[in-house]
Amino acid sequence: MRVQVVQQDLLQTQADAWIVNLFQGVTKPAGATGAVDQALDGQISRLIENGEFSGKLLETVVLYPANLAVGKVIVVGLGEADKFDLERVRQVAGAAYKVAARGRTRQIATIVHGAGIGGLCPVACAQATVEGSLLAAYKYKGKKPNAKDEDKFVELLVVEHKPEKIAAVERGVKRGQIMAQAANLARELVNTPANLMTPTHMAAVAEQVAQETGLELEVLEKEDMERLGMGCLLGVAQGSAQPPKLITLRYEGNPGGETLALVGKGITFDSGGISLKASAGMPNMKTDMAGGAAVLGAMKAIAQLKPKINVLGVVPCTENLPSGTALKPSDVLQAMTGQTIEIGSTDAEGRLILADAVAYAESKGASKIVDVATLTGACGVALGDVYAGLVSTNDELAEAVIAAGSQTGERFWRLPVHDLYRETYKSDVADLRNGGARGGGAITGGLIISEFIKEAAWAHLDIAAMARTDNSKGYSVKGGTGFATRTLIQLAENLAE
Ligand code: BES
Ligand code: ZN
Ligand code: MN
Repeated sequence: MRVQVVQQDLLQTQADAWIVNLFQGVTKPAGATGAVDQALDGQISRLIENGEFSGKLLETVVLYPANLAVGKVIVVGLGEADKFDLERVRQVAGAAYKVAARGRTRQIATIVHGAGIGGLCPVACAQATVEGSLLAAYKYKGKKPNAKDEDKFVELLVVEHKPEKIAAVERGVKRGQIMAQAANLARELVNTPANLMTPTHMAAVAEQVAQETGLELEVLEKEDMERLGMGCLLGVAQGSAQPPKLITLRYEGNPGGETLALVGKGITFDSGGISLKASAGMPNMKTDMAGGAAVLGAMKAIAQLKPKINVLGVVPCTENLPSGTALKPSDVLQAMTGQTIEIGSTDAEGRLILADAVAYAESKGASKIVDVATLTGACGVALGDVYAGLVSTNDELAEAVIAAGSQTGERFWRLPVHDLYRETYKSDVADLRNGGARGGGAITGGLIISEFIKEAAWAHLDIAAMARTDNSKGYSVKGGTGFATRTLIQLAENLAE
């Protein structure tokens, strides 16, 4: 979708749809909404008076004016004024966009939500308005060769009449586009079926990102992994006919400075392996590369935003399948670090591939490592899909993730860490086991990864319950969510000099 900033009054803007807004409880619309209300002979006021529209969060109403330069007007509810924030701007923009884009609408003109009456930062509001719109506009086209192409080109006009605000709006719009495109890339990879989204294809996507942005790319092949002693990643991969890939994208924004590594789980399909999963939920296990997808999306955006920090994006990719050559429960693997790990369940494969990936990131000079993974069902049991899990042994980095998340509207809840949790994954035959007790599974799963890091500060994001959704409210779209992509970008920016 093309996004354009136009300096004029909404009332003067030629478009198929105008988007305006209203806080809950307001009886007399002001600002742009007030001007449109007047041009409509008070129709919006009458909807309010008649109790048909109250400005509740994400509520929408559509008007079809007979005598204006626009086909339809969408009024969207901003909710209670005292609860208004940037995440609400995103959600409101998404909800309004979806209603506006219905039917034959091609050109949609929107005001920047929140900048005027909301009193929030105009750059951030412009960013959030565009981010929410582009996230809401995303759709996975699917593989339907005979379906008639519903594809339509929509243009979003961001209207700002004050000349002194145009530069800020332009800046926010650009940032919003970069953020949303990164998350939409992650969504696309998650939505693509696992027979197409193979480790080899993940590497091809990384190659394309590198070509578009100038990021440096390295793809380790099976032979490279053997040479480096990455027995854990190889152990998971040995049951699959698809060759594993270890993708590394490097962004150098501060030569000689510290390096942040973003490490994403790239299991392109998780059947559980020999510890086979039940068939019911198995199709959703194409989502098991969502952490890797978030890292690829984030690296693309980081290359565009150019923060003054070095960032490594590391994505270990393989399938987890049962076969005659597959890993078995009771096997013992040796990681790149030399540590050995006993397999309790082949379905606890994420921590195995991440063990080698975080060790590799540290060997490449990372002093801060954030891994992101659809690691455990236990995390969703603990937190539902409201908060993602955060496990960290470093207060500063944990706080930085939570703070970045509060800027992007992605919620992270830090789970407790205690040495007693580490006792649960001791092994009689190896340095450790790949699973702990049944209780606290999200914590022990995360902590096992940390055992393979020597000195770097570490935080682990468990996005198992966040990576896909059936919800289509606000900017949500059914399928892959791209969760964590925008927070990783924001984190890199916040940690930059
Ligand atoms: N990929 C799964 C976790 C998952 C579950 C993601 C549900 C998305 C939705 C992971 O590899 C896994 O199988 N974890 C096991 C761990 C257990 C064997 C220690 C789990 O959660 O059951
Ligand atoms: Zn998995
Ligand atoms: Mn698994």
